[in-house]
Amino acid sequence: MTPRTVTMRVWRGDASGGDLKDYQVAAEEGEVVLDVLHRLQATQANDLAVRWNCKAGKCGSCSAEVNGVPRLTCMTRMNLLPPDEPITITPLRTFPVIRDLVTDVSFNYEKAKQAPAFKPRPREPDGTHRMRQQDIDRVQEFHKCIECFLCQDVCHFIRDHDDNKAAFAGPRMFVRYAELEMHPLDTNDRRQLLQDREGLGMCNITKCCTEVCPEGIHITDNAIIPLKERVVDARYDPVLWIGRKLRRRKS
Ligand code: SF4
Ligand code: SF4
Ligand code: FES
Repeated sequence: MTPRTVTMRVWRGDASGGDLKDYQVAAEEGEVVLDVLHRLQATQANDLAVRWNCKAGKCGSCSAEVNGVPRLTCMTRMNLLPPDEPITITPLRTFPVIRDLVTDVSFNYEKAKQAPAFKPRPREPDGTHRMRQQDIDRVQEFHKCIECFLCQDVCHFIRDHDDNKAAFAGPRMFVRYAELEMHPLDTNDRRQLLQDREGLGMCNITKCCTEVCPEGIHITDNAIIPLKERVVDARYDPVLWIGRKLRRRKS
């Protein structure tokens, strides 16, 4: 089949500013958006900055917004996009632009550093750590995260509000916290931190993050809501409540 010509409307610029620029590029049968971006880079815009690595939906590097929707460009098939309209490719809006489609996602790594590490209970007398498969099942869903940060990009709480970032870890980090908190061997308690410093209470469960997750992780239903329930348990557990009262009286 002969290639068709598509209009790729790509954001070009850097931290100081930029604009959308139109390119006419050939697109062949069966290609994904990243294929066409690579052809554009090879033939017309050698200096186009595009981050990618695996081209298999597994490294999470090629995240961008395609027609305004956060997507992995390597997993977005050209034939799913309207055929006679320009295809707009812009960088992730939640993070500062470095150049063209490449953003600085270090916010996520800084937040990751704040999560208290996995702290397993002591080993059994025979030196093993035992757990039942049914206890680890739900944590395995969270291990699928590829750190594409599409969920962070779509979350309205930080997408257009840079000033909220200090007090809100975002859905990717809530998945990470759920992975640690629900691990059957872990003994750390991160509930207070989640409420006081990571902004769990600010999430209003709109599920936008779940809708864009390429790994199909049920971010809100399986991570955020159970974490919220755990925080409520910790805050309103009557025994803990009396303990807190007594401590306050003493001091
Ligand atoms: S459900 Fe919560 S974390 Fe997910 S996008 Fe909405 S506000 Fe953000
Ligand atoms: S939870 Fe899903 S959308 Fe968010 S970073 Fe992980 S894989 Fe990407
Ligand atoms: S290039 Fe690795 S997920 Fe797209």
